[in-house]
Amino acid sequence: MILSGLKAWAFGMESRPLANFPAEVSGNDRTITEKEPLAWTPAVHLSAANKADFGLQSLVATHNLHQSDLFTDSALIDLLDRFPRQHLYALSMGTDPARIENRLALHDGVSGAELLRAVKNGRLWLNATQVDTADRRYRELIDHLYAQLAAQVPGFYPLASRGTLLISSPRALVYYHADGPASALWHIRGRKRIWIYPALDGRYIRREFLEDIFAGVRHEYLPYESAYEEAAVSYELGPGQWATWPQNAPHRVTNLDDVNVSLSTEHFTPQTRRRSQVYVANRFFRTRLGLQYLSAREDGPLALAKTVIHRLARKGGLDRVKVARHKPRLRVDADAPGGVVALDDPGSSNGFHP
Ligand SMILES: [Fe+2]
Repeated sequence: MILSGLKAWAFGMESRPLANFPAEVSGNDRTITEKEPLAWTPAVHLSAANKADFGLQSLVATHNLHQSDLFTDSALIDLLDRFPRQHLYALSMGTDPARIENRLALHDGVSGAELLRAVKNGRLWLNATQVDTADRRYRELIDHLYAQLAAQVPGFYPLASRGTLLISSPRALVYYHADGPASALWHIRGRKRIWIYPALDGRYIRREFLEDIFAGVRHEYLPYESAYEEAAVSYELGPGQWATWPQNAPHRVTNLDDVNVSLSTEHFTPQTRRRSQVYVANRFFRTRLGLQYLSAREDGPLALAKTVIHRLARKGGLDRVKVARHKPRLRVDADAPGGVVALDDPGSSNGFHP
């Protein structure tokens, strides 16, 4: 009983911030009006092989989100006009997947229609984060998706989920990176290619980088080498397809020749939370006590002990972390080349992951 109580406390529902978004973005907070419930039912289709692979191997399956009227131009414009702008991020990027050149763009005062026009004419990536808290239809949609996954995948028990709507330009890209949470990409409009690399393999992501990503002290972008392609699985996604991969598997994305709309979801299970806790604890012992190469095993007494000690240390103020921040360098301008113009005083910037 004591052990189970300790485990619940150590590996419990409380979580650290798992995604970092720039603090210094401007925007107009607007009141989100309640929308009518979904008039259509989202559906997820998994083959028998998909059900066996879920969470363990990369896979592509099908859904019906592209049949919803939630993702038409007029619906996207309406969403963007109502969206809490502090949760909306606009990024411009370079063209070389090996050279990270993300630049954050301000969008205060830019209407939804102008944002969409900038995406169509320029080279931008819009991340409408926490879309499920901004519009309850998205919450309902994501609940449907995960309820269907839980019903179809034996042993899958999602405790929580969240979503980001991605609206991006033709030929826009997302650099090689790894996310802390387990995730899935539900593709709705346009075509894109995703490359997925082995998870938890030191040849493709250093252990300490993943610890730092879990702790929120570094952004998810990772050094990339073209030699990694030998180990990649690659899919071209069209409307009605979705992909998922093992938690923390590095991946990168490039849009083809049209505007893309996708829903990115993240889900949390007892297993994903345990991994997060163990990696954050290992980082604490590495950075504060110089203990290298600690086991990444996620169960057993050692994992529990490390997590308990780390949580106590954190509560005692011994593991204060500085969350990575970014400053905008651009402003969205639908009439400008690339859909952005430079700010007069850009400040500094680092990579930023959608
Ligand atoms: Fe990602």
